Amino acid sequence: MKEIKIESLLHVYDSLDELPAEIKSLMKHAMDARDNSYSPYSNFSVGAAILLDNNEIVPGSNQENASYPSGLCAERTAIFYAGAKYPKAKMLKMAIIAGSKTKVTDVPIPPCGACRQSIAEYEVKQETPIELYFMGETGKVVKSHSLANLLPLVFDKSFL
Ligand code: THU
Repeated sequence: MKEIKIESLLHVYDSLDELPAEIKSLMKHAMDARDNSYSPYSNFSVGAAILLDNNEIVPGSNQENASYPSGLCAERTAIFYAGAKYPKAKMLKMAIIAGSKTKVTDVPIPPCGACRQSIAEYEVKQETPIELYFMGETGKVVKSHSLANLLPLVFDKSFL
């Protein structure tokens, strides 16, 4: 028997102001995308924005459904939109901002497990890391240098 220790390194910033202009701008796109969230059931709005290597910025927001599981998270809306519209472009950075309509969300909201798996697919496909930044409506911002950093033991095409 041997033990394997898995570690993730995250950078935590006190506020968006600590980040470079490019990331502030990407987060602003995510905020604008969040305004298009359709979330009448959870009242939890999430926006995402992906910067591509062709300089396009692709937005996404959570889209809910009366049949709850038919809805989709913001991150997957954005990543599938990017994959569908710019299949040859590499995804460089993704900003995510989330907040409840009923209380103040002042902690960084990480992407859910299903979104991590979906983002991982594109990171593996393009063979370069996707940098992630996530936050609540206000407060700290967390940076992860890659998706793999957030999803150890990823299931990917190498197993198929
Ligand atoms: N949601 C996201 O958009 N991204 C996540 O990573 C977690 C959850 C959405 C799904 C649903 O519309 C609402 O937040 C509450 O779960």
